[in-house]
Order: sequence, then structure tokens, then C-alpha cells
Amino acid sequence: MTLLDVANIHTAYDISEVLFGVSVRVEDGECVGLLGRNGVGKSTTMRSINGLTPPHSGTVKWKGKEVQGRPTYDIARLGIGFVPEDRRVFPELTVWENLDIARRSRGKADEWDEAKVYALFPELETFKERKGGYLSGGQQQMLTIARSLMGNPDILLLDEPSEGLAPLVVDKLKDQIASLKAAGLSIVLAEQNLNFVLDLSDRVYVLEKGEVKFEGRPDEIRADPDLIKRYLTV
Ligand SMILES: Nc1ncnc2c1ncn2[C@@H]1O[C@H](COP(=O)(O)OP(=O)(O)O)[C@@H](O)[C@H]1O
Ligand SMILES: [Mg+2]
Repeated sequence: MTLLDVANIHTAYDISEVLFGVSVRVEDGECVGLLGRNGVGKSTTMRSINGLTPPHSGTVKWKGKEVQGRPTYDIARLGIGFVPEDRRVFPELTVWENLDIARRSRGKADEWDEAKVYALFPELETFKERKGGYLSGGQQQMLTIARSLMGNPDILLLDEPSEGLAPLVVDKLKDQIASLKAAGLSIVLAEQNLNFVLDLSDRVYVLEKGEVKFEGRPDEIRADPDLIKRYLTV
């Protein structure tokens, strides 16, 4: 089943056009990568989906229904979780409190709670009484993802989760995202980190200047050094 179907969206910040007809599709249970250099429109694609920067034309269909233009809280309630690139944890609240206030049931059979979050991110249990502001960058990223999970989304939009993290932390995070996928969660992963995306994704879209230049499987990208050179290396 197609969960998310973004078709030919055009998105602008005021009069500055940023997306020029982007189309992205996510099947139920898929991890879909958005790759491209800084400034190509990965974050804007996510913001167009979750309503923070709605497209001025084109459609965003969620489970077959058009949702473009709906307010962000509405879209979140429909099961679209968003983890922004700036890791928004509440610095004055403890890890546990950060999780507790994000809790929202969506009436699913197997919902997230602290115990499940801690099983996935053991470090968060170790530091559950610590304030968010005193966590490491990697722990804050894990807490931001965990906060989204507490809202029981059907899909998670992850914006640059590996950015600024040490290689060992990135490896750990990759395993954690892989286990979310194995548990059936659908994921959209925007990244500049090529291997992170290629290792996790079923399909990948390569963006440049607000357009999709390539859509295919990770092995097709790995086998195409010209494509990598043209769109993906700095
Ligand atoms: N709030 C904003 N106001 C104006 N322009 C923006 C804003 N956010 C992003 N842009 C511009 O939109 C383009 C795409 O940005 P973005 O979607 O953040 O790219 P990416 O996530 O791929 O780095 C860039 O040219 C960027 O400068
Ligand atoms: Mg971005």
C-alpha cells in the first residue's frame, strides 16, 4: 500500500521558489532516502509534507487522502512524525519528562512507552533523570527520535539525523533506525551522509536545485560513480 504520495509539489519561501515539481512516494514499511547536497531542498520537502511550509501547488496524499495545506498539528495527528534537524529537546526537562510530555496515543495495538524507548536507546534509560540540555549530541538526537516515537507515528520523517555526530555514534544510530524499520515503521531519511542512507534505504531520491534528478535502489547509486560525483560529493 502507498502510505505517502507526494506529487509534483512546488514550494516557496515568500517569493523565493525552492521546490520545482518534486514527487516522492513511500510504500508501507519502506525506508526512503532523500539525498543531495546542502540547500537542494531536502528539508523543504519534509516541511512541505508536514505542513510547516505547505506547497503552493501539487498534492501530498497520506493513505490516499490529500493533506497538503492542513495545519502541522493535524498532520502529526494523522501519524506523520517529524524529527527536525535542530534536535529540539527541552533543555530544562529531564529525559523522562521530555518523553512523558510527548506521549500521545493513536489507539494502535502496540504503542510506545518509556520501557520500549529505553530498550531501543539504552543510554536514555541510563540518563533518564538528566536534563536534556546536558546530554551529548548523539543522546539528544536519540531523545528527539524517541520523543517522536512517543506520539506513535506511522511514518517518521528524519531530517539529517547523523549530522555532527561522531562516527561510532552514527553507527549506533544507524542500527537503531534499522531496528525501527525492522519493527515495521515507515521512514523518510534526508541526509548528506551517502553511506548512512544507502545502508538503510529501500529506495532513494537524489535531489538537486529543488528537483528529483534520480530515483532508484541503493545498489544502482553505488554502481554509478558519475551520479555520485555529479550530485552527491562536495
Ligand atoms: N526559511 C527559509 N527562508 C528562505 N529560504 C530558505 C529557508 N529555508 C531554506 N531556504 C532555502 O531553500 C533552499 C532549500 O533549502 P533546504 O530545503 O533547507 O535544503 P536542504 O535541506 O537540502 O539542505 C535553499 O536555497 C535555502 O537557502
Ligand atoms: Mg536540510
